Formats: sequence, structure tokens, C-alpha cells
Amino acid sequence: MTTQNKKFRNDTKRGDRNVSLFCLVLQCSGERNRHGLYSFLMNILAIGDIVGQPGRRAVEMWLPALKAQYSIDFCFANAENASGGLGLDEKCARQLLDAGLDALTLGNHAFAKKQVIELLEADWPILRPINGPSDWPGKPYLVHAGKLPIVLINLSGSVFMDSLDDPFQAIDQWLKSIAEQKLGKCVIIDFHAEATAEKTAMGHFLKDRVSAVLGTHTHVQTADERILGQGTAYITDLGMTGPSNSVIGMNIESSLRRFTKRLPSRYEIGDGPAVLQGAVITLDPLCGQARSISRVSLQEDTTV
Ligand SMILES: [Fe+2]
Ligand SMILES: [Fe+2]
Repeated sequence: MTTQNKKFRNDTKRGDRNVSLFCLVLQCSGERNRHGLYSFLMNILAIGDIVGQPGRRAVEMWLPALKAQYSIDFCFANAENASGGLGLDEKCARQLLDAGLDALTLGNHAFAKKQVIELLEADWPILRPINGPSDWPGKPYLVHAGKLPIVLINLSGSVFMDSLDDPFQAIDQWLKSIAEQKLGKCVIIDFHAEATAEKTAMGHFLKDRVSAVLGTHTHVQTADERILGQGTAYITDLGMTGPSNSVIGMNIESSLRRFTKRLPSRYEIGDGPAVLQGAVITLDPLCGQARSISRVSLQEDTTV
């Protein structure tokens, strides 16, 4: 199924005005930065947790059109649920990267599929949380070489999550290391966390120290996207890319069994039209400041 032959409804919002190709062309042609100098901008697409086959299908269906529409320079997705709802294996990682994603992040289900260890050790563009044990396989961050480098980090929360190192102390240390190594001014954090308060606190903790703090894990897109301080894009949760007829991606009956019978239930993927959710962040790569953040939410047209 291609983007061209599949109708979709685009609920993308950008403040109180519609995004047009025209205004994006103007953005990319340059604007004055805070120093009064003309600068070019970079557009980043961040996609919320991909769940199973419906999520992978949504990425294949919409990513090419999104990249073209928003002149995307770098795009990544959280893929900790991409393989059968839990974890990431080689087949699914390859499918997502072949679809056009530049990098994949993980989270509390990072190692649910053991095959991911080989991918991390083989230097695939996949990130596990930075605040796990120091001997975890894989690299702590990824540097994407584009017009100017972008540093991507996957950080795990501590509230109602598996116990890893304190995320505030951990990111503090890693940001110092990244600055000392002069790896780049654009730093994007996928903060994979459960508690809204912890995510919001992290946004303020990193305000004007990184380009973006983007929440993942809860699979429900929040409507609180904003710029913190002078240039840190923030959203509590990017949302989910997967089946709409589900409980955060899981089959409804299977999920209800778990809650009403209080018995373990096999993880089954939900069904229904696919959704793709995330955000587009526009950055000034010379100073690393975000200029805007806009939610993206696409859903397959159920009338087709
Ligand atoms: Fe998660
Ligand atoms: Fe998830």
C-alpha cells in the first residue's frame, strides 16, 4: 500500500495556523537568528512508540510524504514495541530503517528481543537508554552527520519504571561529556518515562541546555508541546504509531482480561486503522535552539 493510493486525514497542528508547503519553503531559505545573522534551519521528525505490524505499516505508508512535506533533515522513532509489541528484532529494525528512519530509540522493553543485542553491538543506528548499566551493549548516544551534527540520546525515567541510574544525574554527566568533546550544539533527548511530572521536570531541568526533550512510553499523545526558555522544544509524550482500535496498542479483549480477571494475558496487538503520531521540531543548528514544535497525528481514513 503506498502513500499515494491511501487516503489519510492529517490532523497536524502548528499553533493556530495550518502548515503550508509555502511557509516551510520560506523557513528553509533562512531567517535571522538571535545574533541578528541569517541562519538556516533544520527540521526534525520524531515519531512516538511504534507498535507491531500496524505501526511499521504506518511508517512505511506515511514517512516518505512527511519527509517531503516538512523538508525533514533527520527523523527517528521510538521502536521498543515494534516487534510483536515488545522489543525490536533485526527484521523489523531493517524494515523501519529501509522505510527512511535515520535512527531508532528503545526504552524499558529494549531487550525484550535478545536479537537487539547483536544489532547494538554491530553499531546499527539504534539507541538503548543512556542510564543503564555501563556494560550494556551499544553506544550511549548517536551523532547524526547532517548539515550540522545532531546528537540523539535515549534516557529512561525512574518513576514507576525499571530501576536504572538517576536520569537527572546521568544526563547531567553525559551533557558535560558531549560538550567537552564538541560533538554538536543540537542535542535531542527521547525521555522514555511514565510519570508526567518527571517528564515535565526533566524539560525544565534541561531548558536551554538541549534542543528538545521529547517524551515517549505512555503511547498517548499530549497537547502540551511548547518551547521552554529560549529554545528547548518540549512535549510530554509524542504518542503512538500503531493500531487505533486498542489499549495503547494492545488488543482490547486481551487487555480487559488482564484488568478484570487480574490474570496474566498474552500480549496481542490491537487492530483497526493505523495511526502515526509524533512531532516536527525546527532547529537553528548554529546555536542548537529550537524555534518551533508541532504535533503530527495521522489516521487511516476509515471510510476507504
Ligand atoms: Fe516503554
Ligand atoms: Fe512503548
